[in-house]
Amino acid sequence: MHVAHLSLADFRNYERAELPLEPGVTALVGPNGQGKTNLVEALGYVASLSSHRVSHDAPLVRAGAERAVVRASVVRDGRSLLAEVEINPGRANRARLGRAALPRARELVGTLRTVLFAPEDLALVKGDPEGRRRFADDLLVLLAPRLAGVRAEYERALKQRNALLRSAGSTSAARRGAGPLPGIEVWDAQVATLGADLLSARRYLLARLAPYVARAYDAVAETAPGGTGAGAAAAGAPADVVRLAYRSSLAEHRGEGEEDLSAEAAREGGAPPRDVLAAQLVEAMEQLRRREVERGLTLVGPHRDDVLLSLRGLPARGYASHGESWSYALALRLGAYELLRSEGPGTPSEREPVLVLDDVFAELDARRRARLAELVADAEQVLLTAAVPEDVPPQLTGRRVAVRAGSLGLPVADAEREAAGAGTDGPDGPDGSDGPDGSDSPTADEGAGADGADRADEETGRG
Ligand SMILES: Nc1ncnc2c1ncn2[C@@H]1O[C@H](COP(=O)(O)OP(=O)(O)OP(=O)(O)O)[C@@H](O)[C@H]1O
Ligand SMILES: [Mg+2]
Repeated sequence: MHVAHLSLADFRNYERAELPLEPGVTALVGPNGQGKTNLVEALGYVASLSSHRVSHDAPLVRAGAERAVVRASVVRDGRSLLAEVEINPGRANRARLGRAALPRARELVGTLRTVLFAPEDLALVKGDPEGRRRFADDLLVLLAPRLAGVRAEYERALKQRNALLRSAGSTSAARRGAGPLPGIEVWDAQVATLGADLLSARRYLLARLAPYVARAYDAVAETAPGGTGAGAAAAGAPADVVRLAYRSSLAEHRGEGEEDLSAEAAREGGAPPRDVLAAQLVEAMEQLRRREVERGLTLVGPHRDDVLLSLRGLPARGYASHGESWSYALALRLGAYELLRSEGPGTPSEREPVLVLDDVFAELDARRRARLAELVADAEQVLLTAAVPEDVPPQLTGRRVAVRAGSLGLPVADAEREAAGAGTDGPDGPDGSDGPDGSDSPTADEGAGADGADRADEETGRG
């Protein structure tokens, strides 16, 4: 799939922006702090209803405005579909697909699929388990949309169960583990059933993802001695460098080790079936009850798990160098991209996500830039950002758009390359009303422009 047009209203530092896009590579180029990342963040938001930078929506709305609207015209199998989200911090977002308002904004997820890599992703390798769980679950939802519901219900059940544990903790009998805990069985069962569902889905996902990540790491970091030592560079070699393992709080409680997902053993059927996992979770909760009441927390389940990333036999977190961690994070995203592309649901066109690379090339030397450029060259659509045009590898020919303080210059194509940064501001079109590109806007016939903006205003009126 690809995006033919992106429109923003009151998003971050954009009052209005209209960005016509094409398949192939588009580089957003401009000095620091101008709004390049904001554009790709907006695209990611229509795709996933979340930002890769902030967990609350307030910063996404332009200072002084009340709500933001992001709209993307998505082309899948030659048909274009308008996906729109209105961001209302503190209140429910509203989403539209085509002309229809969706009952729940969440239903928009999956219409546009993007895989976004940004410098923040370094935290996938260096940071807390939460980021790795989110990475896995976000990918899971794209592969099996049914799991969006499971994930949300699990979180809800967990909250209820924790609330009950906390309230029990305030009565002294229960604190001593003496008293019964009326009603807890219901929540045990719910948390266990949903948790087992999530647990087995995650294991299966990570087993499928692992080989893609290993290959991506190899491609980005050039781990295999290309050409030399024929045996070492054979197909199986990258997997020994990069390994993913699942650390399950349930397995840990049961005294079992972590599960190596790169191994052939991790095939489907290698792990216990869901009903067994659910029964094991219930059992673990019963055994942990006293401590859970003391702490007011559910101590076992997928919310306590982690994805362990290792590099040449050592945990990446705490051991890997900065450059290695960075390559690993990039490999996780590129691996996810390849997995979605080759095994995702839908037609080949629906499967292929839009690849977004924020600030990726500045970190790489010339050789790695060239390898990454090669790797993404056959993607249907790639959006990338760079502060200076020289950071964009010459192999990646395509459109370049100048981004200056919340407005979009003309697609600068060759002019900018020739001028190499010397006063190359394109004519700005801050309100987007007179068509920022003035040429062959691919979306002129589908209402992604001014017409769409009116609809947003109507909605505002209904408050
Ligand atoms: N809610 C908001 N309202 C107004 N301006 C905002 C808002 N949020 C962020 N900004 C502004 O947007 C700008 C940052 O934009 P962005 O992160 O897209 O920059 P960038 O072009 O990617 O820069 P870099 O090259 O440094 O990554 C900052 O100047 C910031 O103050
Ligand atoms: Mg940026």
